[in-house]
Amino acid sequence: MSVLITILVALHLLGMATIVGTFFAQLRAKDRFSTGLVLGGAITQLVTGIALIGLLHGNDGFNWPKYITHAVIGLVILGAAIGAQVAKSKHARIAPWFHTAGGLAVVNLLIAVLWRSYA
Ligand code: HEM
Repeated sequence: MSVLITILVALHLLGMATIVGTFFAQLRAKDRFSTGLVLGGAITQLVTGIALIGLLHGNDGFNWPKYITHAVIGLVILGAAIGAQVAKSKHARIAPWFHTAGGLAVVNLLIAVLWRSYA
Protein backbone atom coordinates (compact mmCIF):
# COMPACT_ATOMS: atom_id res chain seq x y z
CA MET A 1 0.00 0.00 0.00
CA SER A 2 2.73 2.47 0.92
CA VAL A 3 4.43 1.90 -2.46
CA LEU A 4 1.17 2.84 -4.18
CA ILE A 5 0.86 5.95 -1.99
CA THR A 6 4.44 6.94 -2.87
CA ILE A 7 3.76 6.49 -6.60
CA LEU A 8 0.55 8.53 -6.36
CA VAL A 9 2.31 11.33 -4.45
CA ALA A 10 5.02 11.38 -7.16
CA LEU A 11 2.35 11.61 -9.91
CA HIS A 12 0.58 14.30 -7.86
CA LEU A 13 3.80 16.33 -7.70
CA LEU A 14 4.36 15.86 -11.46
CA GLY A 15 0.81 17.13 -12.12
CA MET A 16 1.52 20.13 -9.90
CA ALA A 17 4.80 20.80 -11.70
CA THR A 18 3.00 20.71 -15.06
CA ILE A 19 0.51 23.40 -14.00
CA VAL A 20 2.89 25.63 -12.03
CA GLY A 21 5.78 25.24 -14.51
CA THR A 22 3.55 26.14 -17.48
CA PHE A 23 2.09 29.06 -15.50
CA PHE A 24 5.50 30.59 -14.69
CA ALA A 25 6.91 29.92 -18.17
CA GLN A 26 3.98 31.82 -19.73
CA LEU A 27 3.36 34.38 -17.00
CA ARG A 28 3.97 37.31 -19.34
CA ALA A 29 2.64 35.66 -22.50
CA LYS A 30 -0.01 37.46 -24.55
CA ASP A 31 -1.07 34.47 -26.64
CA ARG A 32 -0.16 30.85 -27.45
CA PHE A 33 -1.05 29.73 -23.91
CA SER A 34 -0.47 26.00 -23.35
CA THR A 35 -3.98 25.38 -22.03
CA GLY A 36 -3.83 21.64 -22.75
CA LEU A 37 -0.89 21.17 -20.37
CA VAL A 38 -2.68 23.04 -17.58
CA LEU A 39 -5.87 21.03 -18.16
CA GLY A 40 -3.94 17.73 -18.19
CA GLY A 41 -2.20 18.73 -14.95
CA ALA A 42 -5.49 19.69 -13.28
CA ILE A 43 -7.10 16.36 -14.25
CA THR A 44 -4.01 14.51 -12.95
CA GLN A 45 -4.30 16.39 -9.63
CA LEU A 46 -7.96 15.48 -9.21
CA VAL A 47 -7.51 11.79 -10.08
CA THR A 48 -4.37 11.24 -7.99
CA GLY A 49 -5.75 13.40 -5.15
CA ILE A 50 -8.99 11.41 -4.89
CA ALA A 51 -7.00 8.13 -4.96
CA LEU A 52 -4.72 9.46 -2.19
CA ILE A 53 -7.66 10.47 -0.02
CA GLY A 54 -9.11 6.98 -0.48
CA LEU A 55 -5.84 5.33 0.55
CA LEU A 56 -4.93 7.70 3.40
CA HIS A 57 -8.44 7.67 4.86
CA GLY A 58 -8.36 6.07 8.31
CA ASN A 59 -4.63 6.66 8.83
CA ASP A 60 -3.29 8.61 11.82
CA GLY A 61 -3.24 12.31 11.05
CA PHE A 62 -5.93 12.11 8.36
CA ASN A 63 -7.39 15.59 8.34
CA TRP A 64 -10.77 16.20 6.63
CA PRO A 65 -10.71 20.05 6.83
CA LYS A 66 -7.28 20.05 5.14
CA TYR A 67 -8.26 17.64 2.39
CA ILE A 68 -11.64 19.27 1.71
CA THR A 69 -10.05 22.75 1.47
CA HIS A 70 -7.31 21.37 -0.80
CA ALA A 71 -9.77 19.41 -2.98
CA VAL A 72 -12.24 22.32 -3.40
CA ILE A 73 -9.41 24.61 -4.57
CA GLY A 74 -8.32 21.79 -6.91
CA LEU A 75 -11.84 21.71 -8.40
CA VAL A 76 -11.80 25.49 -8.96
CA ILE A 77 -8.42 25.06 -10.71
CA LEU A 78 -9.93 22.38 -12.95
CA GLY A 79 -12.87 24.70 -13.74
CA ALA A 80 -10.46 27.51 -14.66
CA ALA A 81 -8.38 25.12 -16.80
CA ILE A 82 -11.53 24.03 -18.67
CA GLY A 83 -12.47 27.73 -19.03
CA ALA A 84 -9.05 28.43 -20.57
CA GLN A 85 -9.46 25.55 -23.03
CA VAL A 86 -12.96 26.71 -24.02
CA ALA A 87 -11.76 30.33 -24.37
CA LYS A 88 -8.99 29.11 -26.67
CA SER A 89 -11.42 27.20 -28.89
CA LYS A 90 -13.69 30.28 -29.12
CA HIS A 91 -10.77 32.67 -29.70
CA ALA A 92 -11.81 34.55 -26.54
CA ARG A 93 -9.49 35.93 -23.80
CA ILE A 94 -7.52 33.08 -22.25
CA ALA A 95 -5.27 34.98 -19.83
CA PRO A 96 -7.76 35.44 -16.92
CA TRP A 97 -8.58 31.70 -16.89
CA PHE A 98 -4.95 30.69 -17.28
CA HIS A 99 -3.76 33.01 -14.48
CA THR A 100 -6.56 31.89 -12.16
CA ALA A 101 -5.63 28.22 -12.64
CA GLY A 102 -1.88 28.83 -12.22
CA GLY A 103 -2.19 31.27 -9.31
CA LEU A 104 -4.55 29.00 -7.39
CA ALA A 105 -2.22 26.03 -7.99
CA VAL A 106 0.53 27.99 -6.21
CA VAL A 107 -1.91 28.78 -3.37
CA ASN A 108 -2.96 25.13 -3.16
CA LEU A 109 0.59 23.82 -2.97
CA LEU A 110 1.36 26.33 -0.20
CA ILE A 111 -1.74 25.19 1.71
CA ALA A 112 -0.70 21.53 1.38
CA VAL A 113 2.88 22.10 2.50
CA LEU A 114 2.22 24.67 5.26
CA TRP A 115 -0.66 22.64 6.70
CA ARG A 116 1.58 19.59 6.89
CA SER A 117 4.32 21.58 8.66
CA TYR A 118 2.33 23.72 11.08
CA ALA A 119 -1.14 22.29 11.69
C1 HEM B 1 -3.56 22.04 -8.72
C2 HEM B 1 -4.08 21.45 -7.67
C3 HEM B 1 -3.25 20.83 -6.59
C4 HEM B 1 -1.97 21.12 -6.16
C5 HEM B 1 -1.03 22.21 -6.65
C6 HEM B 1 -1.66 20.17 -5.10
C7 HEM B 1 -0.45 20.13 -4.42
C8 HEM B 1 -0.12 19.20 -3.47
C9 HEM B 1 1.18 19.08 -2.83
C10 HEM B 1 2.38 19.98 -3.08
C11 HEM B 1 1.11 18.03 -1.98
C12 HEM B 1 2.26 17.47 -1.10
C13 HEM B 1 2.10 18.00 0.31
C14 HEM B 1 3.17 17.40 1.22
O1 HEM B 1 3.43 16.19 1.13
O2 HEM B 1 3.73 18.16 1.99
C15 HEM B 1 -0.22 17.47 -2.07
C16 HEM B 1 -0.66 16.40 -1.35
C17 HEM B 1 -1.94 15.89 -1.42
N1 HEM B 1 -2.98 16.35 -2.22
FE1 HEM B 1 -2.86 17.83 -3.57
N2 HEM B 1 -2.73 19.33 -4.94
C18 HEM B 1 -3.73 19.69 -5.81
C19 HEM B 1 -4.97 19.11 -5.98
C20 HEM B 1 -5.47 18.11 -5.18
C21 HEM B 1 -6.80 17.56 -5.28
C22 HEM B 1 -7.86 18.03 -6.29
C23 HEM B 1 -6.91 16.63 -4.30
C24 HEM B 1 -8.06 15.74 -3.94
C25 HEM B 1 -9.17 15.59 -4.60
C26 HEM B 1 -5.64 16.55 -3.60
C27 HEM B 1 -5.33 15.69 -2.56
C28 HEM B 1 -4.09 15.57 -1.97
C29 HEM B 1 -3.75 14.57 -0.98
C30 HEM B 1 -4.68 13.51 -0.42
C31 HEM B 1 -2.40 14.77 -0.63
C32 HEM B 1 -1.55 13.94 0.36
C33 HEM B 1 -1.29 14.79 1.58
C34 HEM B 1 -0.50 14.10 2.65
O3 HEM B 1 0.39 13.31 2.35
O4 HEM B 1 -0.79 14.40 3.81
N3 HEM B 1 -4.80 17.47 -4.17
N4 HEM B 1 -0.95 18.20 -2.99
